[in-house]
Amino acid sequence: MKPKYKELHEARYREIVEKGLKGWGGNQVPEREKYWTDYWAEFVKDFKPPDKGEVLELGSGAGNISAIIARHGFNVTGIEISPTAVQIASKRNEKLENLRFFEMNVTDLSRFEDKTFDIVFDGLCLHCIIGEDRSLAFKEIHRVLKPGGFFMLNSICDEPKDKEIIKNYDSVMRCAFSDGAPYRYFGRKESLIGEIASHGFEILRERVEVKPNGDSLRAIARRIP
Ligand SMILES: C[S@@+](CC[C@H](N)C(=O)[O-])C[C@H]1O[C@@H](n2cnc3c(N)ncnc32)[C@H](O)[C@@H]1O
Repeated sequence: MKPKYKELHEARYREIVEKGLKGWGGNQVPEREKYWTDYWAEFVKDFKPPDKGEVLELGSGAGNISAIIARHGFNVTGIEISPTAVQIASKRNEKLENLRFFEMNVTDLSRFEDKTFDIVFDGLCLHCIIGEDRSLAFKEIHRVLKPGGFFMLNSICDEPKDKEIIKNYDSVMRCAFSDGAPYRYFGRKESLIGEIASHGFEILRERVEVKPNGDSLRAIARRIP
């Protein structure tokens, strides 16, 4: 069964609008905003990316993380498969001139020229990408990054812990299913790191955050010129 990226995530954002939520993570949005604000500040302090650099967020959703990065002074482009999410993000952030959103699939970034971005930030999107599409996405990320540019991967990893997810989990594919389609990839940490390295990146930092509802890999890599 093929992944249903658009259908599945569009339905989720329509539900977010109906319930009056602020975005992915529902009522936990303030905690998530604090987490990503701190994460971004640590990245800037440790890796010193170019001031006012060009940043691409993959899977920008309602635009909450993109807005944090834009408030740090970067020029941010968010791309997202759900048209409803793009509408929410654009309307909510219309006053931020250094921030824009497009409806696009992460497997095809052809709207952008080669070597456009200083940083590509995975907004928890790449764990939504399944099978052969993953290599397409990694090749596109490499292509649109400037040589030496940063790639920040943020992905669920290792074994699922959430009971609902485990009920619909295929341990051979390492994918959770929804509505009969694979929709989340739980790569092992070593395999995710290998996937990044095999697409032309040098790994600068990797850390697994262990959480009760599932672990996550935070990796920072650099495009090898
Ligand atoms: C876990 S959500 C995170 C959203 C946002 N970055 C945040 O943290 O609030 C992952 C996002 O990736 C988007 N997405 C899933 N598959 C995609 C694809 N093939 N291309 C672009 N975006 C996709 C989803 O619609 C969703 O908004």
